[in-house]
Amino acid sequence: MTAATVTAYSPEIANATAPLYERVSRVIPALEWPVHAPYVAAINQLKRERNAVILAHNYQTPEIYHCVADIVGDSLALAQRAAETDADVIVMAGVHFMAETAKLLNPDKIVLMPDMDAGCSLAESITGDDVRLLREAYPGVPVVTYVNTSADVKAESDVCCTSGNAVKVVESLGVDKVLFLPDEYLAKYVATQTKVEIIAWRGHCEVHEQFSGDEIRRYRQGHENLVVIAHPECPPDVIEAADFAGSTAQMIDYVRNRRPGKVLMVTECSMSDNIAAEIRDVEFVRPCNLCPHMKRITLANIYASLESLQPRVEIDPRIADRARLAVERMLAVGR
Ligand code: 13P
Ligand code: SF4
Repeated sequence: MTAATVTAYSPEIANATAPLYERVSRVIPALEWPVHAPYVAAINQLKRERNAVILAHNYQTPEIYHCVADIVGDSLALAQRAAETDADVIVMAGVHFMAETAKLLNPDKIVLMPDMDAGCSLAESITGDDVRLLREAYPGVPVVTYVNTSADVKAESDVCCTSGNAVKVVESLGVDKVLFLPDEYLAKYVATQTKVEIIAWRGHCEVHEQFSGDEIRRYRQGHENLVVIAHPECPPDVIEAADFAGSTAQMIDYVRNRRPGKVLMVTECSMSDNIAAEIRDVEFVRPCNLCPHMKRITLANIYASLESLQPRVEIDPRIADRARLAVERMLAVGR
C-alpha cells in the first residue's frame, strides 16, 4: 500500500479539515490554514495506515495539539497513556526524554521521535555518573528523579516523578530525607509542600527560569483581577507571586474548572494558545517564552517520521530494565 502523501491545498482538503480548523480558529489565522491543512489531512490518514498514535505534550503548537494528536497532556499523563496504548507505533510530539519514557514502557513497539535533537536543559544538566557520585556522598538516601532526565539517569534512580505527582512520590518513600534531581526550583517547591528534607541539584528549565516575581507584579499592575498560575519549574519568587502552582495539566484543570475572567499562565506560551482555542470565555494574558526543543517538532517532521518510520528511539539494554523500574514505581504511585 502506498502511504498517504501531502498534496496541495484544495477544496477537498479544505472541506475534510474544516471541523479541525474550527477547533483552532481562535488562535490560527485563516490565512495560515492552507499551510497546515495538507499535512493535517495526510498525517491523520497515515496514522490509520500505520496503526499509530501521536502523543503530544501541552507545549506543542495548536495545529499539532488540536489537529493530529490522539493523546495530549502533561508528562505524567503521556507516560500513563503510553503504558496503555495498543497501537503499533507511537509518535512523540514532545521532547526526547518523553520518547525514551514511552519506549521504556513499550519495548516492543516502534517509538518515533520526529527530531532527535529535541532535548531539554534539565535532562542535559545531569548524567548517570553524577547520580552515582551523589549516592556515594549521601549513602542510603533515596534518589527521586524528575522524568525530565535521560534513561541513563533514571537507571541510577529509585523512583521517578513529574511535577504532577512529585510531593506524593517523595512522601510515598516513608523516609525523612531524599535526593531530588535535577530541577532545583521544583525541588524547592516540593520542600514547601512536605516535611521530608529535600536535597537538590542545580538544574534549571531554560524556559521557566526566565520568569521573575517582578515580571508577575508588573503584569498584575497592568491587568486588574488577573489570576496568575505558574509551573513549579519557575523560580521561588514567581511561585510566591502566583495564585496557584501545578503541572501543566493541573494549570489547565484550574482554568477549565474555575473559569477566571483573565489569566496569566506562567509557563511555555503555546499552552495558553491551546487552552485559549478551547476555552473561549477566558482572556489569556501571554508572556511568550517558547521552548526551543518542543518547537523542533512540526507537522512536516511528524509526517516524515510516520512515512519513513524513522528516527526510532532505542534504549541501551544495559540500562533499560533499571530505568523502566524507576518509571513503573512512579506510575504505581499515580497522580
Ligand atoms: P509537565 O507537563 O509535566 O508539567 O512538565 C512541564 C515541562 O516542562 C515538560 O517539559
Ligand atoms: Fe525542558 Fe523546560 Fe523545554 Fe520542558 S520547557 S522540555 S523542562 S527546557
